[in-house]
Amino acid sequence: MILPDALTYQPAGSIIHRVMSSSSDELLAGGTDAAVHARHLRVIRGKRVALHDFSVLIARGSVTGLLGPSGCGKTTLMRSIVGTQIVSSGSVTVLGHPAGSAALRRRVGYVTQDPTVYNDLRVIDNVRYFAALYGVAPAAADEAVNGVGLRDHASAYCGNLSGGQRGRVSLACALVCQPDLLVLDEPTVGLDPVLRADLWTQFQALARRGTTLLVSSHVMDEADHCADLLLMREGRLLAHTTPDRLREDTGCTSLEEAFLSVIRHSTAASAS
Ligand SMILES: Nc1ncnc2c1ncn2[C@@H]1O[C@H](COP(=O)(O)OP(=O)(O)OP(=O)(O)O)[C@@H](O)[C@H]1O
Ligand SMILES: [Mg+2]
Repeated sequence: MILPDALTYQPAGSIIHRVMSSSSDELLAGGTDAAVHARHLRVIRGKRVALHDFSVLIARGSVTGLLGPSGCGKTTLMRSIVGTQIVSSGSVTVLGHPAGSAALRRRVGYVTQDPTVYNDLRVIDNVRYFAALYGVAPAAADEAVNGVGLRDHASAYCGNLSGGQRGRVSLACALVCQPDLLVLDEPTVGLDPVLRADLWTQFQALARRGTTLLVSSHVMDEADHCADLLLMREGRLLAHTTPDRLREDTGCTSLEEAFLSVIRHSTAASAS
């Protein structure tokens, strides 16, 4: 089944129609509540339209990857979902509430693209602070720090860490809060392959326990770790699909090539 909202801006007869199917289709068919439902979002940033009539449903308890070139609107969409973005029109419902509403404060975790940590606190104290705010046992902070590969730096001041390490502290602060929806803006940038793989395993384990994760990335290889994929370009949703379906529909084995194929088809369709 094709998402009716998303269809409104898809050129007829293009490959994009065929790659729209995803677990959100089952979600619609089964009448299950979505974790996120964006309807006809329009967002202006500066003088540019950052999101054009953007509609999407994100399934609960899944890992959804948000992929697309730099400047295509990934961060803007995430900000709209966590309620920190002014939107011109349209709406976003998160876990049954309007995005940004007080009821969601403890249920939504957001790790921004630029790490936000207290540089004058030690790694473990940054994470313990969030654990205390959210009423989580302090032992969970140690677990979160270990989980992001910072065990050996637990007592270091964040101001003395590299950018990638500070990013991991940010991630540990979000993980420790155990939110229902975790929005992660490029959490694996600059990490070594072993740690990246380990984090994706953690994300999948969280999803199995019921957490919904929306994770942006530039790296198409990472898309294989996601149950669902949102492919974006220039503020629009090109496709809502799954890694297997994307390969099947494009005939490409590499997800990178598959994404390029979707982009080429969308460019050709909009030019015709
Ligand atoms: N602070 C800002 N002021 C004005 N325009 C902005 C601002 N931030 C982003 N934009 C514009 O909004 C559009 C979407 O940007 P956004 O940050 O959402 O993209 P992105 O997909 O997250 O990119 P990246 O992969 O580089 O992080 C871009 O055209 C960008 O120039
Ligand atoms: Mg971004």
